[in-house]
Amino acid sequence: MDKNKLKKEYNKKIQNFVKLNKYYYELSKPLVNDYEYDQIKADILSLEKKYDFLESANSPSKIVGFKPSKTFKKVLHKVPMLSLSNAFDEKDLINFEKKINNFLDQKSSNEFEYSAEPKIDGISASLIFKKGKFVTGLSRGDGKEGEDITQNLMTIDDIPKNISSKNFPDEIDIRGEVFIQNNDFENIKDKFANPRNAASGSLRQKNPQDTKKIPLKFIAYTFGYVDSMEIKNQSNYLQKLSEWGFKTNPFNKTIKGIKNLMKNYHEIEKKRNEIDFDIDGIVYKINSFDLQKRLGNVANSPRWAIAHKFSSNKGISTILNIEIQVGRTGALTPVAKIKPINIGGVVVSNATLHNEDEIMRKDIRIGDIVVVERAGDVIPHIIEVNLKKRKKNSKKYIFPIKCPSCGSKTIKEYNSITKKNDAVRRCSSEGYECDKMTIEKIKHFVSKEAFNIDGLGKKIVENFWKLKMIRFPQDIFCLNYEKIKIMDGWGQQSVANLRYAIEEKKNISFEKFVYALGIRHIGFENAKLIAKTLKSPEKFLNLSKENKIDDLLNIDGIGETQITSLKKFFSNKTNLNVIQDLQKILNIKKTIENKTVGVLSDKIFMFTGKLTGMSRAEAKSLIEKNSGTIISNVSKKLDYLIIGEKPTKRKVEAAKELKIKIIDQSELYKLLDKSS
Ligand code: IVH
Repeated sequence: MDKNKLKKEYNKKIQNFVKLNKYYYELSKPLVNDYEYDQIKADILSLEKKYDFLESANSPSKIVGFKPSKTFKKVLHKVPMLSLSNAFDEKDLINFEKKINNFLDQKSSNEFEYSAEPKIDGISASLIFKKGKFVTGLSRGDGKEGEDITQNLMTIDDIPKNISSKNFPDEIDIRGEVFIQNNDFENIKDKFANPRNAASGSLRQKNPQDTKKIPLKFIAYTFGYVDSMEIKNQSNYLQKLSEWGFKTNPFNKTIKGIKNLMKNYHEIEKKRNEIDFDIDGIVYKINSFDLQKRLGNVANSPRWAIAHKFSSNKGISTILNIEIQVGRTGALTPVAKIKPINIGGVVVSNATLHNEDEIMRKDIRIGDIVVVERAGDVIPHIIEVNLKKRKKNSKKYIFPIKCPSCGSKTIKEYNSITKKNDAVRRCSSEGYECDKMTIEKIKHFVSKEAFNIDGLGKKIVENFWKLKMIRFPQDIFCLNYEKIKIMDGWGQQSVANLRYAIEEKKNISFEKFVYALGIRHIGFENAKLIAKTLKSPEKFLNLSKENKIDDLLNIDGIGETQITSLKKFFSNKTNLNVIQDLQKILNIKKTIENKTVGVLSDKIFMFTGKLTGMSRAEAKSLIEKNSGTIISNVSKKLDYLIIGEKPTKRKVEAAKELKIKIIDQSELYKLLDKSS
């Protein structure tokens, strides 16, 4: 890649990094989790390492944190507050020790003694003590200059305000982490994204009285400036800190050799859930202060320390309860309420257990200690149960056989394709008899791909439901706006907006209408197919009256499953009423077909057998692109039956009987070739 292009890319990355810092440090609203942040940082650093012409004042190699906010007075740190480089595995640790050995120019490789300290995920603070008195407290700020947050730090009980020990230095800047314990976070979790955010947010309150309301804790682990101190190493310093009245991390250890660091790392990672504060790794510091001094710093992190990060997407927690949620289609989904844990910067207190079978297979029980995984934006789930830690008196979980919402019988359907019973248990009521199902149906009705009504989100649907303002989808179009106007959180303008959004959606496409009804197995693609085939909404409404549901089987993509579901849907009186009422209120637009003139126009195809070098989906899209139609059953309408490897005999026979042209893949290409 050429130099300019590289520079451009690098600058883009720096811009993004600056933005992330601003949101994290200044606005206390992180845009990404810690793991992602570290990756972005590492990416920039590796680019700089590879191309020495890349540099920026805003690079993570030059700045620590972010400029202090303007609310507080800025104060220079006498000794800068550095950051730590990261290690993710044993290899990184070996490398770290090797570099130290090289730097110290040791003849033979030394194994060093380290202070291994679980890394608390909070906000660092510097506390300046003069003659035993806590006089000034600073935030890290950009590492060079911090914010004077003395008054806020004064409210923290863990910080001693006066120290009278004989051996306490005349002037010392004690540094450590301000954080909030997970159980305390529980009470304020609605206000903040995670415990670290809560700590940072409350430390930045303008009024210390507001800080005082949050139960902040402080753990000490290092120092900045000190006038004189006769201590030889970090472990002794930690010891002294507790003698002086500071809290230190109870899991700190002194360890020699990388193998032992690894062992400790795994032990602590396993214990993570038992600790009531969040740790995101372990900090290793060369224990000897003499060596630390010799090693000094690289850019803005010490050569003598490293943070060994935990993998961020898994955590261990305890199942406090199992709740059953009822979905739009009646599926009973068990959800584990777990002891809140921070996984990759997000506090997780729910994990899906998928379905009844999953609970049985893993024998998941209330009270179990479990490994929870949160990958991307999907709902966290449980990967395994620690059976060794299971209490003797624990009881097998019994899945309810009645719907917890409406008390109806629940069923596990037989799946004719897999020839097994479904893993999912469902409420057997159809339509709107089950409250939970109804609420979910209405949420679906207004959702993005369906009616997409701005300002009618899930929470509002729930609220309107509670207030008995919505019972069926059609009620949305007959809301009492005068009543809403005087409700909490609503005003003239927001009601006007809602009304406008609802009125606007009275004009709806046929396909969206079908999809919005939330018929099981009729997703958006199937709704489109149905709308395209039936063309007019009246035909849809008359499907059941005229006994024509089975005709839909001709549509490629619609199978027995969909037909059964449609029959069940239309056999329910409430569903019919809902459709009829909606039809009176709405203007459902007919499906207008694009008149296409592809080479396969008016031709109807069907496949049987496996194609070569092309998936069925690709072939289908190829035919449709050229205006052909695909159906899934042999009938008189069919023009061509395309056969691949191992075709279904029955289909071929049927086609022969009806004198339908039978072609193979190459003949299909020939037909298509005429177009080019
Ligand atoms: S030592 C010069 N010790 O990690 C070394 N830091 O990325 C830096 N942290 O700003 C401080 N636990 O917020 C040190 N036992 C510990 C720590 C610790 C957590 C945080 C601290 C620091 C950040 C470095």
